[in-house]
Amino acid sequence: MILMIHIRQAKVKDIDQIHQLDKESVEYHKKFDRQFYTVSRKWWKIKKASQIKALKKSSDLILLAEKNKRVIGYIWGYVEKMAKFNVGKIQDLIVTSQYRNRGIATRLIKRMLKFFMTKKCVISDVEVYIKNNPAIDVYEKTGFVKQNYRMRLKLGKVKSFSPFS
Ligand SMILES: CC(C)(COP(=O)(O)OP(=O)(O)OC[C@H]1O[C@@H](n2cnc3c(N)ncnc32)[C@H](O)[C@@H]1OP(=O)(O)O)[C@@H](O)C(=O)NCCC(=O)NCCS
Repeated sequence: MILMIHIRQAKVKDIDQIHQLDKESVEYHKKFDRQFYTVSRKWWKIKKASQIKALKKSSDLILLAEKNKRVIGYIWGYVEKMAKFNVGKIQDLIVTSQYRNRGIATRLIKRMLKFFMTKKCVISDVEVYIKNNPAIDVYEKTGFVKQNYRMRLKLGKVKSFSPFS
């Protein structure tokens, strides 16, 4: 069965639907780092505000995948200057669980890469958990290659690293 999906740029009115996807993504990521993904209401507000800001910036793009006016996936990317180069960073990507494995993320990534090209980006970067195989797979299928590990050591007496709690 062909899935009729519409991909379009997000608007301020979409923020609540994007927020629902963000919450789903945070729940999903708890299996990789429960403490890091403990997010307070205050931080959710900050995130929503930063997304609203991003909608107005020419360096940022938030794209939605929509089915029958329901937002079922989204990607947020932005352009960052690194010395003389422009780098396209993928900040967020999620497709709601019911609609995964139908190529929606692949379409969102490809559209984002086109945006990065129009902004003269020379590379695109994204951070992914080592054990997040579905995400690694979709990025590899769109041309990304594994580049480096982030290594972490807890210092002092800190029991948890929960910057957004
Ligand atoms: C990662 C994610 C966005 C992919 O969305 P999606 O729409 O299902 O992706 P696509 O359908 O375009 O591609 C999925 C591919 O991964 C493959 N895949 C699915 N589950 C997999 C797994 N457990 N291990 C390896 N590959 C897997 C599928 O076979 C599919 O390949 P295909 O194109 O040959 O069919 C989605 O799984 C998701 O929202 N995950 C939770 C949030 C998240 O992790 N975001 C990424 C943060 S960096």
